[in-house]
Amino acid sequence: MPVIGSVTALRRADLGTAGDYLRAAGDGGLELADLVAVPVGSGGEIAQDAGLDQLLPAGSAEVVKAAQQAGKAGQVAQAIAKVGNAAVRIAFLGVGDRSPRELRKAGGELGRLLQPGDRAVSSVVAGQPDDQVRAFAEGVLLGCYRYSEKSGAAADHARDAELKLLVSGPEVPSPDGGAVRTEAIDEAVILANAVALARDLTNTPSIRKSPQWLADAASKIATHNGLNVRVWTENELANAGFGGLAAVGAGSDRPPRLIELSYSPPAARTHVVLVGKGITFDSGGLSLKPVDGMKAMKTDMAGGAAVIAVMSALASLGAADKVTGLVAAAENMPSGSAYRPGDVLSMFGGRTVEVLNTDAEGRLVLADAIAYADAALDPQQIVDVATLTGAARIALGGSLGALYSTGDELAADLLAAGEASGDRLWRMPLTEEYRSALNSPVADLSNVPRKDPGAGSIVAALFLREFAGSRPWAHLDIAGAARSGTDDGDVTAGGTGFGTRLLLRWLARSTLSSAA
Ligand code: BES
Ligand code: MN
Ligand code: ZN
Repeated sequence: MPVIGSVTALRRADLGTAGDYLRAAGDGGLELADLVAVPVGSGGEIAQDAGLDQLLPAGSAEVVKAAQQAGKAGQVAQAIAKVGNAAVRIAFLGVGDRSPRELRKAGGELGRLLQPGDRAVSSVVAGQPDDQVRAFAEGVLLGCYRYSEKSGAAADHARDAELKLLVSGPEVPSPDGGAVRTEAIDEAVILANAVALARDLTNTPSIRKSPQWLADAASKIATHNGLNVRVWTENELANAGFGGLAAVGAGSDRPPRLIELSYSPPAARTHVVLVGKGITFDSGGLSLKPVDGMKAMKTDMAGGAAVIAVMSALASLGAADKVTGLVAAAENMPSGSAYRPGDVLSMFGGRTVEVLNTDAEGRLVLADAIAYADAALDPQQIVDVATLTGAARIALGGSLGALYSTGDELAADLLAAGEASGDRLWRMPLTEEYRSALNSPVADLSNVPRKDPGAGSIVAALFLREFAGSRPWAHLDIAGAARSGTDDGDVTAGGTGFGTRLLLRWLARSTLSSAA
C-alpha cells in the first residue's frame, strides 16, 4: 500500500524559491498548491525571497520571526499567503543543519501537516544533493504514515496527498508543468514503502497475525517482487530438527512456520542470509509476562517484518548480492501443549538446550534459523534482527539498535549504513566472561543463565553466536527502536520499521544514487 499519492520533482530554471513558484502559479503557468513549505536554517535564516514576502499579509511578520527563532529541524510556523484570489498555507519549516538526518526529521513533520487530498510544493531541498533530497522525501512519506483501525478512519490518511519538490538543475521538458522523476525521489519512495510495509505488519494485531498469516503476507509480497518462497510447516520443521522453533510454537493453536524468501540476481557474487525474529505474539509462555509487559507484544515480530520488507525492495533497488531472508515465526503461548521450564530441546544440527525461562523464546527460534543458514545455505555473512531483550531497550532507548558482531568489517559496514540511513546502531561487546553463565549441567547450553550475571542483551547475543558456526555474523537487538510511543520526525507511534532502511542501505550500497 503506498504511503502517499505521489512525490515528484519540479525542475525549471526559473524556479528556485517558494516566491518564484508562487509567482509562476499566480500568473497561471502552474497549478497552485494548497501548501508550500519553505526552509528555515538553524541560524534562523530564511532564503532571500522577495516574491514570497510580498504575498504574506501584514501580520505574518510575527510568524516569520517565530519561524526564524525556531529553525531547529522539524519546527514549523504557519502563515497564509494570498495569491490572486486564492489562499495558500505557507509552512516555515526548520531544517537545522540540512544534514540528511535533520532533513528526515523536518520532512516527517511536514508529512504530518499534510491533509487528505493536499497538493503541496516545497523549496526545502532546492539546490541540495541527492542524499538530502532522498532523506527529505523519505521523511515526508513516512511522517504521514498512519495505522488505524478506527471505523471512520478513511479521512485520517494523507495517502492521496501529492508533493512536488523544487529541485535545481537543467530544465527537463515534461507534459505536466515541469514535474519530473529523479533517482533520489524514486529511491525514497521505494525505501518509504518498504518501511511502511514493515510498520503495517508490525502494527497488525495478533488476533489476525498468526504465523500462517505472516507466511501468507510474505508469500504475496514474494510473488509481487520476483522472490522465491518456501513456507515450512510444523511437521516439516519437526522432521528437519528445528527443535527450538517447534517447542516455542507448541503452546499455540496456531502452529509455527519458517518463512524462507530468496532473491538471486544472476550476477551475484556473495550470499547474505538475513534472519528475523517472527514471534507473532509473546505472552512469555508458561514463564508468563505481567500485564504491562504483554501489551506491546504483537510487535515481537518486528525483526521478521524488517526482513520481509527488505526482501520486498531488493529488486527495485537493484541490489547486487544474493539474499535469503528467513523469518522464524511462532506464537509463544501458555497451554497444556506448551514447552516448559526444565525441558531440554534438540536444536537444528543436534545441539541441546535446557530451557530455564520460556520467555527467552526469541533466541531459541533464531538459533534454529541461524544454524540452518550455517549448515544448509553456505552464506558469506549472516545478519539477524530481533526484538530480543528488554535489556537492550534499557541500555540504548528507542533511538539506537544494539549491534553485536564477530566480524569487524561487517560491523563497520553496518554502522556506516546505520548512520547514513537514519537507523542508528551502537556496537556492543561479546564479553567472553559471560559465556560460562550459559553452561548447563544437563545440556550443551541453557537458554538463560542459572545465575544471572546481568548484561541480558550481551548474554542473549552470546547464546546466538554459538549457532553461527565460523561465518561472519551480526546480531541487531532492536527491542528499543522497533517500537515508539510517540510521533517524532519520520518515526510514527507503534511499529517503526527500524532496520529496514539500514539493511537496504547496506545491501544496495553499490546502486543507491550518490551513496558513499
Ligand atoms: N520479546 C521480549 C523482549 C522485549 C521486551 C522486546 C520488551 C521489547 C520490549 C523477549 O522475548 C523477552 O521476553 N526477553 C526477556 C529475556 C529474559 C527472560 C532473559 C527479557 O528481556 O526480559
Ligand atoms: Mn519473551
Ligand atoms: Zn520475545
